[in-house]
Amino acid sequence: MARQRRACRCRRRARLTPNERRALGDSPFVHFAEVGKTYRGLRRRVAAVVDVSLDIQRGEVFGLAGPNGAGKSTLIALLLGYLKPTSGAITIGGSRPREFVERHGVGYLSELVTIPPRWRLEEALSRYALLAGVETKRVRQRVAELVERLGLVEHWGKQIRQLSKGNLQRVGLAQALLHDEQLVILDEPTHGLDPVWTQRFREIVGDLRHPERAIFIASHNLDELQRVADRVAIIDHGRVQRVVQTRATAKDSGAIPYRIVISRGIATAHELLPSAREVAPGELALPPLSVEALNESLSRLLAQGVLVASVTPVYSSLEREFREAVQADPSSLHSPA
Ligand SMILES: Nc1ncnc2c1ncn2[C@@H]1O[C@H](COP(=O)(O)OP(=O)(O)O)[C@@H](O)[C@H]1O
Ligand SMILES: [Mg+2]
Repeated sequence: MARQRRACRCRRRARLTPNERRALGDSPFVHFAEVGKTYRGLRRRVAAVVDVSLDIQRGEVFGLAGPNGAGKSTLIALLLGYLKPTSGAITIGGSRPREFVERHGVGYLSELVTIPPRWRLEEALSRYALLAGVETKRVRQRVAELVERLGLVEHWGKQIRQLSKGNLQRVGLAQALLHDEQLVILDEPTHGLDPVWTQRFREIVGDLRHPERAIFIASHNLDELQRVADRVAIIDHGRVQRVVQTRATAKDSGAIPYRIVISRGIATAHELLPSAREVAPGELALPPLSVEALNESLSRLLAQGVLVASVTPVYSSLEREFREAVQADPSSLHSPA
């Protein structure tokens, strides 16, 4: 609570002015530069985050995958300014995390949703909406919208302690989304959700995507991250082992394999693309290509009257990347911590 209050104290704007936008240009929104965090206890020191360098852009959904104890929640606490790095530095929109969060706010779902158990759902969300800077006259409507969106209408008058784990998790999500923030941080957002709500969560993240917003999701559920994130950092023993691209973006620069489905002219397509392999009737697997090379190949096909039904980039499987990077069985990750 104290933390939430601190994070939400000031009024702020969720959107940038055109001048702020121009000033920021293409610089990364969130920048981790060689960040380390060591906890010092009486008996032992734990290097929870080691030498992490990452850039996250506005508009991105960025995932953080790793086994329990990998350092995900510590990285989030550093990003929120709750903890100070032992080494290195973090900036959000050019400011230190604490400064950014106090000025602009942040949408945050913590790993453990801690709302006073006797508060009623509606009362809790209204208080958090006010703390988050929602205008007083809009609070009722905003809370009602989120209660509806997160399927909590039937629990409206209940006390927090009467809610199941899954319902409580959805209250936490509602709280994180009360105010239109530029930065949304979700720590294990589907923990305790049933399959229907896990699916709905994907839609909620899809709706939340915005060119000026960055969404940061830590999870030990690889399948969930593969589906919702654009890029995923795999972290183990506090270190980023690799960053995996899980979705196409307009700024793609690397070479990616593609599958194309030809609805007319497969023989011509074979002639024009000798390196392609037919993997199913009418479906060709292309070797890794840059976006430019892909478009050149497609224009050659189209110029010869070939009819292309679909083009699909083939991204690497996060599970395979995870297995290689962490040398652990990814299936063990699906059980909640
Ligand atoms: N407050 C703390 N004091 C000491 N050690 C901690 C503290 N919080 C986390 N740790 C340790 O830091 C490591 C990373 O923890 P955490 O960031 O919670 O990982 P994750 O969220 O990936 O499960 C673990 O070894 C954990 O035991
Ligand atoms: Mg955690």
